[in-house]
Amino acid sequence: MTVVLVLILLGPPGAGKGTQAARLCAARSLAHISTGDLFRENLKQDTALGKRAKGFMDAGQLVPDELVLEMLFDRVAKPDCRQGYLLDGFPRTIPQAEALEKRLGGHAKVVVLSLRVPEPVLLERLTARRTCKACNHVHHLRFAPPKVAGKCDKCGGELVQRTDDTLEVVSKRLEVYRNQTQPLEGFYAGRKLLAEVDGNRPEEEVFRDLSRRSIGGEAA
Ligand code: AP5
Repeated sequence: MTVVLVLILLGPPGAGKGTQAARLCAARSLAHISTGDLFRENLKQDTALGKRAKGFMDAGQLVPDELVLEMLFDRVAKPDCRQGYLLDGFPRTIPQAEALEKRLGGHAKVVVLSLRVPEPVLLERLTARRTCKACNHVHHLRFAPPKVAGKCDKCGGELVQRTDDTLEVVSKRLEVYRNQTQPLEGFYAGRKLLAEVDGNRPEEEVFRDLSRRSIGGEAA
């Protein structure tokens, strides 16, 4: 049986997971699986799953594990994941990590990269983030401004602020991260799968560091 590469990007909201995931996946031909994007896509399509997830997301809470797991496992069963994939925003709880471990068995090389960024920087990044409605490409009003105001550099689509990027919801998301997701660092460190990366540097520098560590699976 082929051993596939499963890259897991951990990090608080605004750490740069989505930004770096897009670059890593393009460089390494991996499928980019963002559970946040999958939920937002369901919301756009007005599916039953999207409707159930909306209340949790708007409140800055996690969507219940059973909803996340079913959606995620359906997604990674698709053909584009056969050569390996990158998980962005999953797992977010210990039960999610245990379910993934059980599903992968011994058939995957798992590398977990954890982005570290101080909270004041996260707040600044998230409250001035603008996301393309059409292609999900991410801009920042100060750090990655669009060439034309309000338009995505990649596809010209409309740039909008995510409904969970208000100061109030971001503060809740950070609290949820500390309580429910940060314990995953210990979970993966115990399995010698974790490498920590300083995410509070220019995008290009962070990318180089992540690329290097994702190849070797080098633990910090
Ligand atoms: P999700 O969409 O996964 O959001 P998140 O984890 O909170 O992460 P973000 O997308 O906010 O940030 P990011 O780290 O990707 O940062 P980005 O690259 O955009 O989840 C949303 C919600 O869905 C959750 O709250 C939950 O309700 C639900 N959900 C999703 N997955 C779930 C799961 N597994 N279980 C349960 N519920 C789940 O960068 C941020 C900004 O900073 C951008 O503007 C960018 O341009 C800028 N930036 C990036 N890098 C740099 C840099 N190096 N220097 C300067 N600026 C930078």
